Amino acid sequence: MRRSKAALLGTIGALVFTACSNVETAKESGATPVSASAVDIPVDTSVREALFVDPHSYSTEEAKVNSLHWEAEVDFDAEVIRATANWTLEEGHGDTVIFDSKALDISSVAVDGEQVDFELSGPDELLGSALAVPVSPSAKEVSITYATTEHAEALQWYPRELTQGKRQPFLFTQSQAILARTWVPCQDRPGVRFTYTAKVKVPKETLALMSASNPSVKNEEGIYEFSMPQPIPSYLLALGVGDLEFIAIGERSGVYAEPEMVRNAAFEFAQTEDMIIKAESLYGPYYWGRYDMLVLPPSFPFGGMENPRLTFLTPTVVVGDRSLVSLIAHELAHSWSGNLVTNATWNDFWINEGFTVYFEMRIMELLYGADYADMLEALSYDDLQQGLVDMLENDPEATRLKQDLAGRNPDDGVNVIAYDKGFHFLKLCENTLGRDRWDAFLKSYFDRYKFKTMVTEVFLGELAKEMTAEEWQKIGVEQWVYGKGLPANCPPAISNRFVQVDEGVKMMLGVDPDAANAKELVYLDQKTTLRWSTHEWLRYIRGLQAGGATVGHYALADANYGFSGSPNPEVIAAWYTAVLSTDYRGYDEAIFRNKVNSFLRSVGRRKFIVPMYESMLAGDEQRQTWAKQVYMEARASYHPLAQQTLDKIFEDYL
Ligand code: BES
Ligand code: ZN
Repeated sequence: MRRSKAALLGTIGALVFTACSNVETAKESGATPVSASAVDIPVDTSVREALFVDPHSYSTEEAKVNSLHWEAEVDFDAEVIRATANWTLEEGHGDTVIFDSKALDISSVAVDGEQVDFELSGPDELLGSALAVPVSPSAKEVSITYATTEHAEALQWYPRELTQGKRQPFLFTQSQAILARTWVPCQDRPGVRFTYTAKVKVPKETLALMSASNPSVKNEEGIYEFSMPQPIPSYLLALGVGDLEFIAIGERSGVYAEPEMVRNAAFEFAQTEDMIIKAESLYGPYYWGRYDMLVLPPSFPFGGMENPRLTFLTPTVVVGDRSLVSLIAHELAHSWSGNLVTNATWNDFWINEGFTVYFEMRIMELLYGADYADMLEALSYDDLQQGLVDMLENDPEATRLKQDLAGRNPDDGVNVIAYDKGFHFLKLCENTLGRDRWDAFLKSYFDRYKFKTMVTEVFLGELAKEMTAEEWQKIGVEQWVYGKGLPANCPPAISNRFVQVDEGVKMMLGVDPDAANAKELVYLDQKTTLRWSTHEWLRYIRGLQAGGATVGHYALADANYGFSGSPNPEVIAAWYTAVLSTDYRGYDEAIFRNKVNSFLRSVGRRKFIVPMYESMLAGDEQRQTWAKQVYMEARASYHPLAQQTLDKIFEDYL
């Protein structure tokens, strides 16, 4: 089957038309094929523009902001931020500027220093309220004075008792995807970029940090100034305040953490500078100046968040052996895929995450070798396969790379599709074009689109120019991007280092755990297992779970390898999730229950606690009751985002 490139590009045009339900007539008239030299796809401007329309923001294309000066005071006693957001406008705006806001207490709005009457639309549960400000055509500045409320979903106020040092409280923000509007009134969509400066007052015993240039020590006044000269989208606005210390670990990088944690963190992330150099060698210069990291309290709902110049991290990766630093590679990679070339709307989220997982794997390969990266890729493949089973049953539409999230929470798109299907698609592109051609293409892509937004269709246009018609066909690009499920030509996961692990799993599952010599039969000698990293152990545990191990098998495995005593939260969470899916009673019940309880009360990382609760809820009534009890106790210490996810899961059981 050979088709001309023009025909292929016509196909993309047609796909774009089908993707936009509001321009159906265009489809009948037939999409004009664009020439191979045109970057912009499709040719029809109205269709093109429709792709950039963001269903998650009230702001308009006609009146955009271009910079922010934020003055704020953080009041830990009242758990409120009082602030003024001073926005400068882009020239040529109309007579109304619209901002997104949610759960904000807005007291006044001024245009070029003059107070004006503003309008706040009735709140939408998901999107919040549109703040409409009347402006004259020559207006330059809009200042909004406001305070946050207890309903600010982006904020977690963390009490001092729960911090490591128990001296000072902690505050951190999480703006992605559409929560910046709960602490700063803004045009809250990735398609609008702005530079910013800020002046923030905090208690003088604490240090304030932002996704900007940062201080490294506390000062007497507790007043800090920040500047972010590169334009960023609102979801990358970030603030962290706490009893923090800084340790430099390289030319351009360092860690901030509580004093109790900061040395361990500096050791754990010591390879960061090397990662930056490796990343630059792949896809071009790092544009953000410094790359520092902030270690947050364990309630941080994610592994990491790529806030520019200051990645936010879960403390659960500080395990002492640097075995979980692929997370740093991931967040660092976002400095290109995401922060530099940004998904235009959350429908194109795979443009951020799929590329970032791909880039992460490439950095890890350079740092640790292909065998190591193969393990990470195999785990990604497993996640994908496992996630797909559930999604194809419950929401098959959601298995397309290009999403339609209008009316839905963009959080719904945070799943294996954007990350792991996205990664495997790009990996297949690499395999098909060969590494040299593919890398040259990506490098030039990041360069040409830096500080710009990207929709799937424009990326496909770029890809179509790079590939021959045969290559395009062979990959089945359209099928990958717009089709459901996983195409049959998905590159298989092959990991040499997992061969041994899988044999160990087989051996275990083939044994009757009650047999007298079972323990010896399944024992893998230390010559083998001492060389295993966290990834081998994860594969082992997941292998047992997927193979239907019984509580007896788990008890054997624990006796041999001491999983339940592991200091590594990643291993522990996988272990609990697996054991909880069995009739765990009979396996050191009281001790086990206590450990699970204390883990769930102290860690709020969604990736860990959601599968654990799900395992419990899938069990008998006694386990369900247990799950509800712990959740009720632990809920208050979780981040609003984790609460939201879990409330939804528990809804069916209450
Ligand atoms: N940007 C994401 C986290 C995110 C996505 C927050 C969408 C809110 C909405 C971050 O880069 C990420 O992907 N984190 C992963 C890391 C992992 C894939 C290495 C996480 O936290 O698990
Ligand atoms: Zn990411």
